[in-house]
Amino acid sequence: MNNTMESILINTAHALMADGKGLLAMDESPPTCNKRFAIYDIPQTPENRRDYRELLVTAPGLGEYVSGAILYEETVRQLTSKGEQFVDVLEKAGIIPGIKVDTGTVDLVNFPGEKITEGLDGLRARLIDFASSGLRFAKWRGVFSIGEGIPTDECIEANTQSLARYASLCQQAGLVPIVEPEVLMEGHYSLDECFEVTERVLKSLFYQLYKQRVLLEALILKPNMVLPGLDCKDQKSVEKTADATIKCLLRCVPAAVPGVAFLSGGQNGELASERLNQMNFKYGSKLPWPVTFSFSRAIQLPALECWKGEAENTVAAQTILLYKAKCNSLARKGQYAMDPQNIV
Ligand code: 13P
Repeated sequence: MNNTMESILINTAHALMADGKGLLAMDESPPTCNKRFAIYDIPQTPENRRDYRELLVTAPGLGEYVSGAILYEETVRQLTSKGEQFVDVLEKAGIIPGIKVDTGTVDLVNFPGEKITEGLDGLRARLIDFASSGLRFAKWRGVFSIGEGIPTDECIEANTQSLARYASLCQQAGLVPIVEPEVLMEGHYSLDECFEVTERVLKSLFYQLYKQRVLLEALILKPNMVLPGLDCKDQKSVEKTADATIKCLLRCVPAAVPGVAFLSGGQNGELASERLNQMNFKYGSKLPWPVTFSFSRAIQLPALECWKGEAENTVAAQTILLYKAKCNSLARKGQYAMDPQNIV
């Protein structure tokens, strides 16, 4: 990578972590998007997915709270109802367009209950194509379940090595890699168990990134927060989860990394904002990197529920989306719920 490319990537990574902003993940695959549509009886068609995504990216003023949006390939290939490219609409709104490039997870052979993410074959050419379409960053997600004897070291190594190979290919193609190792929330596990697994995963990830010679200054980490499993009876306070998350990240994430943008992972949306807020409120400028959001469900779901696939609900759904984006923007600054303006 030459110096010009390096500084373009570093600038993009810093722009994604701009003060008071975070990322909107809207990169659900068609099956995942359809599952969410099914809840509200929204017909599961490419046109409805297009209309819904158009509603999101055209919400007026979204760029005040959102620095980047992660698209799915289908959306990049579609045009808005006005015949525009989604990438152009985002750029005009001051939002950096990015794309999910992994092709999903499959069972990891010989390791029951564990998954490996696919998509490395042919990735180099796809990334060049995406970069020439105006996309400026990419995302790859590896997943880890906590259960009896899992995740195994082999699953962690296989997935973190793929994440590092993906990250190196992204940087070579001029795209900032968002590196997403997700410890899934399903399970009865405790906060301490999540801490231990997240630490193992992140330590392995940064070792693999080092081995693949990935430029740490030009990537964003998208991790899970350290939380008890969804079925754990001993749910902890916002402060305890924020403390555990920051302690784990400080142990594992080098200071050279420009930023951390959390996934929401099926948490209640309000709690996701409160936890992010607590991290910024308590630790904020003492951290070596900014911490922000890269949420899908925690930002989008109330807007989807309002929209219900009806054009007449578009403006109301956009108002709700903007409200959720603003809440998380405040949480990024440690000002959420302490600001009397924090109302719809
Ligand atoms: P959630 O915030 O809904 O977990 O989605 C984030 C994401 O990008 C999942 O890959």
